[in-house]
Amino acid sequence: MKLVKLLANLGYGSRKEAQRLIRAGAVTDDTGRVLGENDLPPYADILIRGEPLDAPAPLVIMLNKPDGYTCSSDDPGSTIYDLLPPRFALRNPGLNPIGRLDKDTTGLLLMTDDGKLLHKIIHPKSNCLKVYQVQLDRPLEGHEGELFASGTLVLNSETRPLLPAKLDVLGEKTARVTLHEGRYHQIRRMFAAAGNHVLTLQRISIGGLRLPDDLPAGDWRELTADELKAVFE
Ligand code: URA
Repeated sequence: MKLVKLLANLGYGSRKEAQRLIRAGAVTDDTGRVLGENDLPPYADILIRGEPLDAPAPLVIMLNKPDGYTCSSDDPGSTIYDLLPPRFALRNPGLNPIGRLDKDTTGLLLMTDDGKLLHKIIHPKSNCLKVYQVQLDRPLEGHEGELFASGTLVLNSETRPLLPAKLDVLGEKTARVTLHEGRYHQIRRMFAAAGNHVLTLQRISIGGLRLPDDLPAGDWRELTADELKAVFE
């Protein structure tokens, strides 16, 4: 791949802008040698204004999604893309969320530019369980666990019953729910079906990957190879 295309694919600008960056001498190798359009040293040696390049595709990141951000890039309000470097929105291939969270849901969100990986994680066959922490408006009544585990609960305006889900009661109005699938507003609608109302919802894990304690809301980072493995555990 040519240097211009590499920079454009990473979102550093259009091909023309990438060409301008190179001609302006902004792109060097690790010894400080200014690179030309036909140079292509090893990826790790390329610096742009003295900084290493962003990680190449395939990229997998985790984001601690804050309240009030949608997962859709064309939403008029705040979106998860506002939390990433602006050039990430220009990457080719682009980064997509692996299973969306509602605007008011917080917590662990994975994003990738690897379509195969995305489908592998969301496919029910992979059985990557998602765990959510829920704060409710009213006290639990005691029947919810059985209802959610039944495999017969049909949500409003749907015909196919939900797969059995697990409820762990943590307090009078707090619980953890483990899902095998991800339908639209699923947990909010499950509790609505049980006569309750979800006040806050946070995803705390996907498979064996937990939301790290040291990742504040709004922050993101690349997944390590071990963390990616944990998603499938
Ligand atoms: N269930 C919901 O209701 N919302 C989410 O964002 C995820 C699961």
